[in-house]
Amino acid sequence: MSRSHVNGELRISDVGKKVTLIGWVAKRRNLGSLVFIDLRDRTGITQIVFDETLTEQVRSVRSEYILEVSGTVIERESKNANMPTGDIEVKAEQVKIINSANQTPFIIADDTDALEDTRLKYRYLDLRRPVLQQKLFTRAKIVKAMHEYLDDNGFIEVETPVLGKSTPEGARDYLVPSRVHPGCFYALPQSPQQFKQLLMVAGFERYYQVARCFRDEDLRADRQLDFTQLDIEMSFMSQDEIITMTEGLLKKVMKDVKGIDVQTPFRRFKYADAINRYGSDKPDTRFALELVECRDIFVNSQFKAFEEGLKEDGTIKALVIDGADGYSRKDTDKLTDLAKKNGAKGLVVCKYIGGVLEGSPVKFFSEDEISALKERLQLKDNQLVLMVSGNWIKASTALGALRSYFGKTLKLYDPSTFDFLWIVDFPLLEYSEEDGRYYSVHHPFTRPHDEDLDLLESDPLKVRSYAYDIVLNGYELGGGSLRIYDCDMQEKMFEILSLSKEEIANRFGFFIDALKYGTPPHGGLALGLDRVAMILTGSESLRDVIAFPKNASAKDPMSDAPTTVDQKQLDELHIRIVE
Ligand code: AMO
Repeated sequence: MSRSHVNGELRISDVGKKVTLIGWVAKRRNLGSLVFIDLRDRTGITQIVFDETLTEQVRSVRSEYILEVSGTVIERESKNANMPTGDIEVKAEQVKIINSANQTPFIIADDTDALEDTRLKYRYLDLRRPVLQQKLFTRAKIVKAMHEYLDDNGFIEVETPVLGKSTPEGARDYLVPSRVHPGCFYALPQSPQQFKQLLMVAGFERYYQVARCFRDEDLRADRQLDFTQLDIEMSFMSQDEIITMTEGLLKKVMKDVKGIDVQTPFRRFKYADAINRYGSDKPDTRFALELVECRDIFVNSQFKAFEEGLKEDGTIKALVIDGADGYSRKDTDKLTDLAKKNGAKGLVVCKYIGGVLEGSPVKFFSEDEISALKERLQLKDNQLVLMVSGNWIKASTALGALRSYFGKTLKLYDPSTFDFLWIVDFPLLEYSEEDGRYYSVHHPFTRPHDEDLDLLESDPLKVRSYAYDIVLNGYELGGGSLRIYDCDMQEKMFEILSLSKEEIANRFGFFIDALKYGTPPHGGLALGLDRVAMILTGSESLRDVIAFPKNASAKDPMSDAPTTVDQKQLDELHIRIVE
């Protein structure tokens, strides 16, 4: 088999050439004595015309058969401006059927109404759709740009084990039973975090890996169980230097893949400011629409709905939306539901119409409060005022969810823009009322801010960390931090996280030991490669940029994984299934 050209290649300048093409039959039409076949491969489509001398040979040919066709390039009578090869067609002189195909469960075309589970069941056919192929090509280009940049900057790619010990990243581990050590389990890596730090201890200075990570967590459009990180670690670098290095990487990716010159440095927001202004630690700043703090206006309010917001850790925030008359009671009830779904206790809804603030909550406001609110929110006629009161983080993020909702539904941004930003100065810890203990906001290896060290004992929630997230268009693209490189500090951190001495020794003893042998100051980050690919290809879901993803219920409809296994396998692993 030898083809002279690929199917996306031929142009008007090739007219007269003898060519041989190979490809899948994308479409077949019979027109009088002629048969037209669109031949498709990963580069595109060429139209082939078979005259009466060959129609018999292609009589049996159906969609998705593979043909080898030799013939002459001719100019088309009716050109197709929508196809790169639309000016020409190939007049077939010889044809060979390389393989036949069953009727496919859905048509192989960019637009499909096949159910997602059907597409995933026949993923190898789904992946023949040009639109999906292009997405995977783009993903490969992204990875290539990353490799080039990191290689140019002295990074070395090192692979780390998949069978290992649990690394805490906040999700549940996937466990793999050991056959040779009955009752013992490996954990699949949630990230290569500890290994990359150990590579710094080992003196590699600049490491990266395109690393598979596994997290047993609830799936969302931007989450998979197994996903890929571009994982990076550097020694002797400040937070600013790591940020600059990452900006260089993303700048090259954007240039090579999208042809876009993004401006660096990216904007930086302190975590607290991002929550205050946008109600999110991954704000979409392609549109303004900021939350406005109004707590001070209502300090003397007796309004029940504001009670929690007036407590010490509380906030009362407002969001103002144009076109109040477009929102019926039913619409505002929906907004209330959305706020509640995102953690708010309720939503205070008012309308500013004809110079008057209207709505059932207004009777609880004093004249002074109303005029201060008008002034603070700079209210204009026909605006909707939405307020959430409550615990600072909960109330802010609930209103932030409404902000995102309006951003999308009111189309407040240009979807073709890319707005990178950093979130810095995260708190080191968060407290879980439910578990009665602290958790790391990033992970337990994150270094506390030097200026806040004395607060570690007295007021742990006030301690900031050297952690940073990179955000693009409302998605957390990646995150990282400077690390603890002092063994005592690391041990103390585990204690703050309520690990007993014994647990620390069992789970992290080897790691703390390693920190005792001359550990360089180091830090790094990991970018979610799937998320980068999702956003750069304009996809709605990670599933579009992963060749063989799991569906929303964590299954692979093609192979049916996960499945039960033979009793013999279970016996070998010393596992008994409890019904
Ligand atoms: P983190 O847990 O923030 O950090 O993960 C880094 C990035 O990985 C991506 N990501 C995911 N992508 C798809 N599906 C998932 N389930 C999923 N979970 C995370 C996100 C996220 O920003 N070891 C640290 C990094 C470091 O400190 O260097 C870590 O894994 O894009």
